Amino acid sequence: MNKMPKKSSSYWLQNKQRSYEPLKKDIDCDICIVGGGIVGITSAYLLTKLHYKVVLIDEGQVLSKTTGHTSAKMTVQHGVKYSELIQNLGENEAKAYYEMNRTALEWMKEKIISDNLDCDYAEEAAYVYALTESGLESLEAEYEAYNTLGIDGTFERDLPFNIEVKGALKLEEQGRFHPVKYCKALLEQAINRGLKVYEETTAVNILDGEQQLVQTTSDYKIKANDVLITSHYPFYEGKGMYMMYMMRMYPERSYVLCIKPKADLSKGMYINVESPARSVRKIDINGESALLIVGEEHRTGDNINTMEKYDALYQFAVEQFGIEKIYARWSTQDMMTVSGMPYIGPLTRKDEHILVATGFNKWGMTNGTAAARLLVDYITKQPIGSRQVFHPKHTYILRRFKAFAKQNKDVVAHLVKGKFEKGQVEIDELQKNEAKIIRVDGERKGVYKNEVGDIFFVDTTCTHIGCEVNWNEAEKTWDCPCHGSRFSYDGEVLEGPAEKPLQTYDYKMIDNFLSKDSGY
Ligand code: FES
Repeated sequence: MNKMPKKSSSYWLQNKQRSYEPLKKDIDCDICIVGGGIVGITSAYLLTKLHYKVVLIDEGQVLSKTTGHTSAKMTVQHGVKYSELIQNLGENEAKAYYEMNRTALEWMKEKIISDNLDCDYAEEAAYVYALTESGLESLEAEYEAYNTLGIDGTFERDLPFNIEVKGALKLEEQGRFHPVKYCKALLEQAINRGLKVYEETTAVNILDGEQQLVQTTSDYKIKANDVLITSHYPFYEGKGMYMMYMMRMYPERSYVLCIKPKADLSKGMYINVESPARSVRKIDINGESALLIVGEEHRTGDNINTMEKYDALYQFAVEQFGIEKIYARWSTQDMMTVSGMPYIGPLTRKDEHILVATGFNKWGMTNGTAAARLLVDYITKQPIGSRQVFHPKHTYILRRFKAFAKQNKDVVAHLVKGKFEKGQVEIDELQKNEAKIIRVDGERKGVYKNEVGDIFFVDTTCTHIGCEVNWNEAEKTWDCPCHGSRFSYDGEVLEGPAEKPLQTYDYKMIDNFLSKDSGY
């Protein structure tokens, strides 16, 4: 058996990245962008081209979140998306989604070719395939949706690699690329036109007056005419609209193995209809052909052994391709919407100078590019037309009431359940690199022992709105199931919407409690 890499580390981020200073004073600009992934960077690229004075801030490093961990397929084939959108929302909505993604794909290809961007781009056909009879039914419905929407796909009986399928849908002229190289090229062009970038700069609030005032944790302020929230999960939900996004989105994690296969895959990008997903694409590593195997999605913060997710992908890779070497493993997080549509546009009906883009349901490359183009059209007052359907206040929710109710039932369950869960462990039994939940004086705490035996205690109550975090074994993080905040083993915020670290405790203090028969 090949050895699984000890640490989770995205291949896309393995080369040293250029870094940017944190914000250290109050500043003014035309447009402040919060979040340095594909949406924020593409928006900055487009806006600086139109001569706006733009500032981009990121709570960590640019490109280090979802864009730096994606499978980076450039495609309008998003699983069996179109039949689901037609069924759940309607033909007009499905058409608008397709058109928006199709034009984004064309724009990306055109950009890569005309600017000769060095981003490992290769054109590929995309396939979605079925392994089961019910999967085949979904595929047939999707084929019908292609015909209804005028999508030029073909139905195939088998795939060009060794897997027995019930059928597949093929779309020509899609692509794969290196998302970090691509975004860095756009970012450099924007910087050359005057973009200012600040890293390690966390936005915590927006005060509005004649202009917007973005406040950061260090209490510096950015004054802007418009603010774009492109931070994955919106850090700010608008006046009087608290929880609007919280109630309509939930986070999912997926896993990625980057391998050198024994049997090469000649061409194509693949994903199955069924759950769990098995997504496959080629990647070039130092001139050698390798594969990304992606899937095993689950809700963030599920109390499961996440290393088993990599094991399942490993088994699939061994069976289908054989493994000569594992280059890297990593995981990623996506925001899922109850409507199946992304939310792009004014944050609320009252806040038209604060715009948001989020909820790409795992297909962030074309959706993210399309979102940036749409945000810029809002700013420059271009006609929005059929893209109104992505307005965050659109009334899909009424049509998707069951999904909406389930999401909120899940959040309430997570808020309550963890509080009463029993502790699991004697601290003396804790192994190195292991974490457990314990009860101290009746309260739920997390304890982690690192490689050299140091022990770290955190309060497991998420600092966002109080759900209980769970341990993620594969990443060595505390993850929140409600809205996807993630914390390091010692409580630091790795990913919002939480802005404050988990409360931490001194080992001696906890040890005193435990030795006093405190109810643990
Ligand atoms: Fe919202 Fe944890 S309670 S992210």
